[in-house]
Amino acid sequence: MEISPLQKARYEYVPKLPGMLRNGIADICVKEGEETQSVADQDKIKALFPNTYGKKEITFEKGQNTSEAKKQVVGVILSGGQAPGGHNVICGLYDALKATDKNNELIGFLNGPSGLTDDKFMVLDDEYIDSYRNTGGFDIIGSGRTKLETQEQFEAAAAVCKKHGITAIVIIGGDDSNTNAAVLAEYFAAHDTGVQVIGCPKTIDGDLKNEDIDCSFGFDTATKTYSEVIGNIERDANSAKKYWHFVKVMGRSASHVALECALETQPNICLISEEVAAKKMSLASIADYIADSVAYRASQGMNFGVAIIPEGVVEFVPEFSVLIAEINELLAGSKADEFNNLPDWASKYEFIKNGLTAESFAVFDILPQGIQQQLFLERDPHGNVQVSLIESEKLFSALVKANLDKRTAAGTYNGKFSALHHFFGYEGRCAFPSNFDADYCYSLGYNAFMLIQYGYNGYLSKVSGLDKPAEQWVAGGMPITKMMNIERRHGEDKPVIRKALVDLDGKPFKYFESKRDQWSKETCFTYPGAIQYFGPSEVCDRTTVTLALEKS
Ligand code: FBP
Repeated sequence: MEISPLQKARYEYVPKLPGMLRNGIADICVKEGEETQSVADQDKIKALFPNTYGKKEITFEKGQNTSEAKKQVVGVILSGGQAPGGHNVICGLYDALKATDKNNELIGFLNGPSGLTDDKFMVLDDEYIDSYRNTGGFDIIGSGRTKLETQEQFEAAAAVCKKHGITAIVIIGGDDSNTNAAVLAEYFAAHDTGVQVIGCPKTIDGDLKNEDIDCSFGFDTATKTYSEVIGNIERDANSAKKYWHFVKVMGRSASHVALECALETQPNICLISEEVAAKKMSLASIADYIADSVAYRASQGMNFGVAIIPEGVVEFVPEFSVLIAEINELLAGSKADEFNNLPDWASKYEFIKNGLTAESFAVFDILPQGIQQQLFLERDPHGNVQVSLIESEKLFSALVKANLDKRTAAGTYNGKFSALHHFFGYEGRCAFPSNFDADYCYSLGYNAFMLIQYGYNGYLSKVSGLDKPAEQWVAGGMPITKMMNIERRHGEDKPVIRKALVDLDGKPFKYFESKRDQWSKETCFTYPGAIQYFGPSEVCDRTTVTLALEKS
């Protein structure tokens, strides 16, 4: 395999561990804290997790290692979307496991959770691990989105573990994958399998965080990658002075990615989906808000700007959700064939007009025709509209254009509006991890093995104090059940880890809110530049603005 000069150099990088894990395996002991309670619905969660509920929070510290000496065979799984640093979680896990006993083994289950149930695996060794150190991607063992949730899957997993003599499974995933880790841990405990399950918090979306988890890994690198490019676009906009750039950024539902990119780059506009929902903003009112910035800047001779749009925003617009529900209903069952057999868009448009309520049709009717057609073409296997595929950056620029046309007709606007569109998502998910993510992920993996070695089950590997230098980070573990509550999913009450949306009372949003009016009118762009791997610590080890503000 040919490797780039940077990849070669990154192999040499030695990730920084929390100070308490730096003295060698023989010098790591456990300090147990308080027993825990779930964040809500305690009685229900306790009843569902009788063997793993209420366990104690733990931290590691310097002191004699008292864990039981036994051969460990650990299975590891990458679950869900890629996030920079996943390879380092596996490297940290491997190094701790081998440093404890060179006969210990690490088995990688291939292509996500289905690798475990289907017994598709590879044994990881020094040479293979070394070729993935400090690199982006999940290609070391592949990832997948299969959910581990049925009795049959758990039975298959238990059988595979038994076959390999597996003592523990590490699941590297987001809120859903770690919820499944908790359920699997409970199953293994209830069936006396002796297999432990440990989770690690992953997702670029940044929505797996709470009072115990400062942030999920990958968020740092992904947002820095997008911010670099957004900053470059801002500088281009400010140089050419002729385009408005509409930039959609990933993040399935929460707007943490958009908010962090805005804090890094100070664009003219950044929509925050959670605010759109809280204020029940309509598509027209959002378009009006953006058009106000365009018009004001035009009046100052600035016919250019940058707007950041979070990927999931349309689902947070109340009237749009109603429209989607009505379209799903309109095309349910055989009605989809009737619609598809209509000869042209004009007759389809009539069908839609007759099938929707007047309110929803009014929303539908202001959409550009391309988006209208997208709503009826892109359907999932159940026939539902795939909202995530809607090109919201194009939707909003078209709505802004229509709004400006009205202002022009009314004589209140005479600027020029030329829009360009971008979507940044996959570009950031497999970047070389920043030093922060390389350090954090390696620590999470190393720490996960210490949790295994000390016999914990149903815990999330926890490394906190992340706003401080790595030396001061605190390593430990938290029972996953502590983060759970009951939520309605697909018509059923389910125990799940609570997803963290942007907190409109939190410091990151409040800071953004205090600045955005000025940013929308003036040109306050900031240019973060590319992630730096070598150089002064204040440049190379800098964390996200979100984390810095949250901890300030
Ligand atoms: P995870 O929640 O699994 O970490 O994935 C997040 C994400 O990258 C979202 O930002 C995005 O909406 C989605 O995955 C894309 O999914 P896919 O990789 O299946 O296209």
